[in-house]
Amino acid sequence: MRIALASDHAAVELRLAVAAHLTGRGDQVDDLGCAAHERVDYPDYAARVTSAISAGSADVGVLICGTGIGMSMAANKVAGIRAALVHDATTARLAREHNDANVLCVGGRVLGPLTVLECLDAWLDASFEPRHADRLAKLHALEAR
Ligand code: RB5
Repeated sequence: MRIALASDHAAVELRLAVAAHLTGRGDQVDDLGCAAHERVDYPDYAARVTSAISAGSADVGVLICGTGIGMSMAANKVAGIRAALVHDATTARLAREHNDANVLCVGGRVLGPLTVLECLDAWLDASFEPRHADRLAKLHALEAR
């Protein structure tokens, strides 16, 4: 899996741990920042990851900020993106099975690192259940409003 990854300044250390974990799983990680020394605006980093998915250079994305809320809001502004803010392995697995989330968002200030890694594994190891396909079509139809 080609995974585009980014965080804001609230989660740089966690992002590096996530990158190492994903690489260890055998995934191809494109770490799109931010740099450790800078304070940044999360929409800029959501834009980097979603652009990689839209361009086809990444299959999925992972976005981390303090709560995950800002990143998920920003990513879901982009057509074709289904970003899920998850809190545990169950919500992460269901984000794939029911929603086919192509971006996983987590909050580095509200989850422990082991929980975040469990979320990643649950999401990446799950499969979309096609019985939900009509709902996804309706979801994307909302982008035209
Ligand atoms: C940055 O201070 C913080 O607002 C951001 O990481 C995130 O939690 C926003 O949703």
